[in-house]
Amino acid sequence: MSNKDRKPFIVFEGLDGSGLTTHAFDLHRWLKERGYEVYLTKEPTDGVLGGLIRSALKGELKVSARTLALLFAADRTQHTETIKRLINSGVVVISDRYKLSSYAYQSIEVDLDWLRKINEGALTPDVTFVIDVPPAVCMRRLQKERFHTELYEDMETLERVRENYRRLAEEEENVIIIDGNRPQDVVNREIFQKIKELELLEGL
Ligand SMILES: Nc1ncnc2c1ncn2[C@@H]1O[C@H](COP(=O)(O)OP(=O)(O)OP(=O)(O)O)[C@@H](O)[C@H]1O
Ligand SMILES: [Mg+2]
Repeated sequence: MSNKDRKPFIVFEGLDGSGLTTHAFDLHRWLKERGYEVYLTKEPTDGVLGGLIRSALKGELKVSARTLALLFAADRTQHTETIKRLINSGVVVISDRYKLSSYAYQSIEVDLDWLRKINEGALTPDVTFVIDVPPAVCMRRLQKERFHTELYEDMETLERVRENYRRLAEEEENVIIIDGNRPQDVVNREIFQKIKELELLEGL
């Protein structure tokens, strides 16, 4: 298969409530309207491993930080197979979270180099958008629609995760920080513009 047929893998990263699902969905719709075949996906996945991870994040399943990191890596390994198959067959893949989530959240408790090692088999996305929003704003957005809180949802931790994302944006390849503390359509427009500028898709 020629390189021309391989489509981009695009990832959205950031804190819960930063608008990952919103902006991933909007980009997916924008590309579809322009005639591309697009697959929207997320991590943790909807598979068995993703289910275990969600139970652990809610505190229903007690696992150590390292075990949780391995569960994420295992879920991602499975997910990566699907992503590779799709991008190689002409489908644009957009994922709501990928390996930077493991690095940003789990490096609080677990060594980052080890996290990188267990995620060695993961892809380097063609672009990762880190949607940067202050934790207080994220919390306010989520309080409107959610009643339970998860493992990582105290302010101090979220502030550290945000800092981790900013540092990772320097260290990792193809990462772009987007100021997500602006109206949805303004954020979207900037994302669409970046996708055009990067020339990841012919004919855009
Ligand atoms: N740019 C924005 N400005 C204002 N509100 C926004 C913006 N983007 C998203 N929202 C709103 O914030 C809330 C959370 O958005 P969304 O579900 O996309 O976040 P998320 O990052 O996927 O969070 P999670 O998956 O943890 O719930 C939603 O009510 C959404 O409509
Ligand atoms: Mg979401």
